[in-house]
Amino acid sequence: MTAKGAATERVRVWDLPTRLSHWTIVVLFGVCWWTAETDHMEWHLMAGYGVLGAVLFRLAWGFCGGQTARFGSFVRGPSATFRYVRKLFGRGADDSPAPLGHNPLGAMSILVMLGLLLLQTLFGLFSVSVDGVFSGPLAKWVSFETGRRFTHLHAANFDLLLLVIAVHLSAIGFYRFGRKESLVPAMIHGFKSRTPSREVPYFVPWWRAAFLAAGILLCVALLVNVRW
Ligand code: HEM
Repeated sequence: MTAKGAATERVRVWDLPTRLSHWTIVVLFGVCWWTAETDHMEWHLMAGYGVLGAVLFRLAWGFCGGQTARFGSFVRGPSATFRYVRKLFGRGADDSPAPLGHNPLGAMSILVMLGLLLLQTLFGLFSVSVDGVFSGPLAKWVSFETGRRFTHLHAANFDLLLLVIAVHLSAIGFYRFGRKESLVPAMIHGFKSRTPSREVPYFVPWWRAAFLAAGILLCVALLVNVRW
């Protein structure tokens, strides 16, 4: 029961692969940042490959994972997003229940974050340090000057990512303090409380995530180690 007396139920929202990929990206993104700042480039490259693997996994999971992880279930067009924003700020006559998974506005920021993270790792694969000592595994495909251009893109895109992440965290803060809705616990344990409903999201067996993770691990290992 809520404080107002309305009955609530606990429902599973996020599956383990979705939560694990999120927190893996968060931790490894921090490691990438710290290792770049402190010039621990061997570790920077390792953490970067980890981010690449986690982002590729999350993108693929968006097509074959559980309902709330699928892009098809939460990415909405501009008019649905506009209706959602009006409702969020108390305007409009949309009385549909709040989405259990990502809302249409969050969906947009998720696509932007995953896209920028993917770009970040791709730029890194072709980057080369100013003295040419450290380089991504694909930098030998391009000239030194082009590799340097990729390094500049890698740095500029990082600043853009920081901005988008700041917006992401501000939105979570807005929901927590402006709407009294804590989104973070659900990203940790996977469950949310809601008013009872017969609509329950579907999930897929764990081995699907295990096969996918193994395939992506193999692909990233090949990409990094094969002499191109
Ligand atoms: C490197 C920093 C971060 C990045 C790149 C990032 C990225 C993302 C992405 C891609 C999603 C979508 C999750 C999915 O569907 O798989 C997401 C959701 C979410 N993130 Fe983050 N995140 C970051 C930091 C954080 C931090 C520090 C927190 C907690 C304070 C957080 C809390 C959440 C929550 C609660 C959601 C779910 C939002 C919802 O209910 O729609 N994130 N984040």
